[in-house]
Amino acid sequence: MMHSSDEEYFNSLIKKPTVFKNIGCLSVTYTPPYLPHREEELRTLAKYFKTIFEEQDEPLRKICITGPTGSGKTTLAKRFGQLLENIDKNKNFLLVYINCRIYKSPYLIISTLARKLNKAIPPRGYSFEELQSLLIRLLDFYSPKVLLVLDEIDYLISRVGTDFLYTLLRISEMTTKQWISYIFIARNLNFIHQLDASTQSSFQSNHISLDRYSETDLKDIIKSRSELAFYDSTITEDSVELIADISSKSGDARYAIEILWGAGQCADDESSPIVYPDHVRKAKALIHPEIRREVILTLTLHQKLILLAIIRKLKHTKNAYISTNDAISSYRLACEEYEEEPRRHTQIWSYLKELSKQDVISTKISGEGMRGKTTLISIPDISVETIELFLMKSIENQKKTVEHAEK
Ligand SMILES: Nc1ncnc2c1ncn2[C@@H]1O[C@H](COP(=O)(O)OP(=O)(O)OP(=O)(O)O)[C@@H](O)[C@H]1O
Ligand SMILES: [Mg+2]
Repeated sequence: MMHSSDEEYFNSLIKKPTVFKNIGCLSVTYTPPYLPHREEELRTLAKYFKTIFEEQDEPLRKICITGPTGSGKTTLAKRFGQLLENIDKNKNFLLVYINCRIYKSPYLIISTLARKLNKAIPPRGYSFEELQSLLIRLLDFYSPKVLLVLDEIDYLISRVGTDFLYTLLRISEMTTKQWISYIFIARNLNFIHQLDASTQSSFQSNHISLDRYSETDLKDIIKSRSELAFYDSTITEDSVELIADISSKSGDARYAIEILWGAGQCADDESSPIVYPDHVRKAKALIHPEIRREVILTLTLHQKLILLAIIRKLKHTKNAYISTNDAISSYRLACEEYEEEPRRHTQIWSYLKELSKQDVISTKISGEGMRGKTTLISIPDISVETIELFLMKSIENQKKTVEHAEK
């Protein structure tokens, strides 16, 4: 039974006044209904893909969206998918969104697609060839109009090469009608250089390139997101301007929204009914744009341990770079702390390569002044306090899930 003082405490917690009307509207998975400064791009997509709903046999449609981090690529594609879902009254339209950083192999991508068409398909157990022909049969049977969004395709191509892209495009050509249209999302078009000339030119001609957001763009975005998330008049114009100013250096809307969220939290913590610039400043000090938390969550346990080790060593030495040997000895300590068997040298190297591919760390070969050549490691932002805490929490959670699964 709850004691009355506990009850009071609990009540005071849940009834605590808050500036948030709907904090979920600031989460990373939320797709807002209105995207300031991306209206034109939405129209371009609509014009390009309108054939999805026309009856004629149209050639395969595919488009590529590129732009720097936080320029709204993912959100644009997801919002467009929602609009199409609303238009299709017969529900024959199917939006399949796949983030290639999470679904890291061609097999996973094709099996996810197959399972969207028929939930009874088991996730494993087929050979890759069997899975392909199963998908072709499913497409011909259900005759859906699929829009497949492959997000962070550049990352997958750097891991597995370009063959699977051809396989995917071929699947579409092997069905009786071309059921699948594609949106590919990448930071830039560099990944197409590995493709043959005709595929390259089709990517170049169907391409939407998003720019970094300007300070005024960011102001409009912050305003529209605060209207969804905050009660009326709980955030001052000055605060909005300050967030726009801070985030305009990178032009990254994700960073702007994280600060907006943090500033609201600070106001709530201080029981302030209004979000003032000082709350924005406090939030800024806690949030770092360079390392993306979603990326950290997709790392394996030992990749997280090595990253934690690097962060600690960088913090301890106060240098911009550490040597690989230092990283490895610090990793062994971290393994001891978390009671994990350290991985072998070659494995550690492959983790480092993976982290560098994901832009979580950067590496360079040592120049003059050091004996022999060695790989030096750095991370984009040296003020890493919050990331260290976030990583430690994430490692603990992951260990708990593993232990739970083993029982
Ligand atoms: N025009 C906009 N209006 C409102 N919110 C936006 C807009 N553009 C981006 N956002 C928000 O900013 C955040 C980052 O956008 P998004 O994830 O689409 O960026 P991205 O270009 O895919 O970045 P990355 O390359 O890092 O994946 C999301 O929370 C998104 O909701
Ligand atoms: Mg994205």
